[in-house]
Amino acid sequence: MGRYFAFGQFKNNSACKCVNLIGIGIDSDSDCDPAPDWVAGDRPPWDTDMTANELRDMYLSFFRSKGHAVISGASLIPENDPTVLFTTAGMHPLVPYLLGEKHPAGTRLCNVQKCIRTGDIDSVGDASHLTFFEMMGNWSLGDYFKEEAIAWSYEFLTSREYLGFKPELLFVTVFEGDANAPRDEQSIAIWKKLGIPEARITALPKDDNWWGPAGKTGPCGPDTEMFIDTQPGAGAGRPGQPGGRFLEIWNDVFMQYEKKDDGSHVPLRQNNVDTGMGVERTVTMLQGRASVYDTELFAPIMAAIGDGASRRRDENEDTQKAYRVIADHVRSSVFILGDERGVAPGNLGQGYVLRRLIRRAVRYARAIGLKEGFFKPLAESVVENYKGIYPELAARHEYIVMELVAEEGKFEKTLDHGTAELSKVIENLKTHGQGTLSGRMAFRLYDTCGFPLEFTEEICREHGIAVDREGFEKSFAQHRDVSRQGSEQAFKGGLADNSEATTRLHTATHLLHKALQTILGDHVRQKGSNITTERLRFDFSHPDKMTPEQIKQVEDMVNKAIQDQLPINMDVMTIEQARERNAMALFNAKYGEQVKVYAIGGYSLEVCGGPHAKNTSELGRFRIQKEESSSAGVRRIRAVLE
Ligand code: ALA
Repeated sequence: MGRYFAFGQFKNNSACKCVNLIGIGIDSDSDCDPAPDWVAGDRPPWDTDMTANELRDMYLSFFRSKGHAVISGASLIPENDPTVLFTTAGMHPLVPYLLGEKHPAGTRLCNVQKCIRTGDIDSVGDASHLTFFEMMGNWSLGDYFKEEAIAWSYEFLTSREYLGFKPELLFVTVFEGDANAPRDEQSIAIWKKLGIPEARITALPKDDNWWGPAGKTGPCGPDTEMFIDTQPGAGAGRPGQPGGRFLEIWNDVFMQYEKKDDGSHVPLRQNNVDTGMGVERTVTMLQGRASVYDTELFAPIMAAIGDGASRRRDENEDTQKAYRVIADHVRSSVFILGDERGVAPGNLGQGYVLRRLIRRAVRYARAIGLKEGFFKPLAESVVENYKGIYPELAARHEYIVMELVAEEGKFEKTLDHGTAELSKVIENLKTHGQGTLSGRMAFRLYDTCGFPLEFTEEICREHGIAVDREGFEKSFAQHRDVSRQGSEQAFKGGLADNSEATTRLHTATHLLHKALQTILGDHVRQKGSNITTERLRFDFSHPDKMTPEQIKQVEDMVNKAIQDQLPINMDVMTIEQARERNAMALFNAKYGEQVKVYAIGGYSLEVCGGPHAKNTSELGRFRIQKEESSSAGVRRIRAVLE
């Protein structure tokens, strides 16, 4: 039997309905021929798809056969570690041992670890991002190093006895080297010896191929990542290119350094290996499913959502996303509440993250017509599906449901209160003939009434009132509570810091803004931006999904401006003078107010607070990773500089 290729189309769908998978950029608008039989390829001819249960067992028994002790996974709530709120990777509970302490089970370990990562919460809804996932990992604590780790990864992925992926589908990336550590020539040589040709080995910088500590200090090192080509025959290509063609399946980290307080990297006493392979993603690829939500890990909760909702999952992009976000957030909440060291929803730390997940689920639930009380059947489906592997969920079953139902009730009250407050504010704006709700007010509603920005925007829209999202994000950044920080930060608005990387990305958003207006039309307006050291996120008004051609044109225009080495100059003038010069102004300044205007050569002129690079040549190559819907009439771009 042929299989449809993973992440592209629904499998075994007799109506052959193609889905447009927003977020990973695969547009399946061609006729629905089953794609190449790539997954089945050289795999053993098992009759049924490999399940997650079989995958976990196979992984652990493989590493047991290589002398590893199977250890149990740790709690989701880290013990004695203030640097993270949740366990974000399998290595986390093992940090002391990576630094040299003796582990009671020996120097070769493997396990399956529950993980929570909310840094990418905005990406949830695409085919593969999850806030909770299970990570299979194997560790060497000063025992074997690159040679064995890579050879075993290769064997497990390609051997017919194990996953059986065709070797020619395997692409790898390695660390290209920088001031802290040299180019990883050993890993390159090992991959070549195993038969991976140079064309399928890509060297990338720290952003891609380095595992750093969650806090400021800790064990770290270069890594080599393995990818499966889901579109063989699509011509040349490499991991890192847009379009989601190459899916990461495994990461082998070579922890040989310790990052110190002053940012320096010193060699560790021992060379360690730390690997991570996501259960959900791997099983999705093996089964050739369209998304993680189409595997048995999510089937019961997706069915439970469908039973209660008034909208169908496949109605449109938004309902598809809502089903996925609800499924993800409920599953994560069940695991956090059901953890051995489980926490309750609250306003700080883990409790705050949990509250946000639950309330976000409620928000999406409303959008698809799930009625009050919807948490119970959904949470029960998760407990039922997972209790065999995670008995703690069954033990805490009643507590899980009780907390979810209680939090939904609290949120309903919050919403009622916030709606009443907002109505007064809108009334007031209308009386004074004003068309924009200030960011500070939106933030106050959010902060003191717990009223989500999206709700404020939705209600304001109904009254023809705009919301200053940029201003909201500024207020948010100012008021951000330090106790919510750590690697699981609750939210970041505007610029994360004033580092060089962030500054370059900020300049890139100006280039992007102008390019979008040029390519898509004058209706394009910035609706918000969020910049970290790694990437920029830019929201803008535009009614339609961008086509691949438009994305390419925008990238080209930005890269041309970078190649043109344009100088960036700042002038201070009044807002009226700025308007006269046709500067793009993001939000309303008061009459006569002095503003900073940044000119990027003759390319763009924009009112902005800075900071910016001095010349576009500092930026590097600009690449759009993702284009997706943000809210009605607003698109979101995520991009990086390479
Ligand atoms: N710690 C590595 C990761 O999580 C293996 O990707």
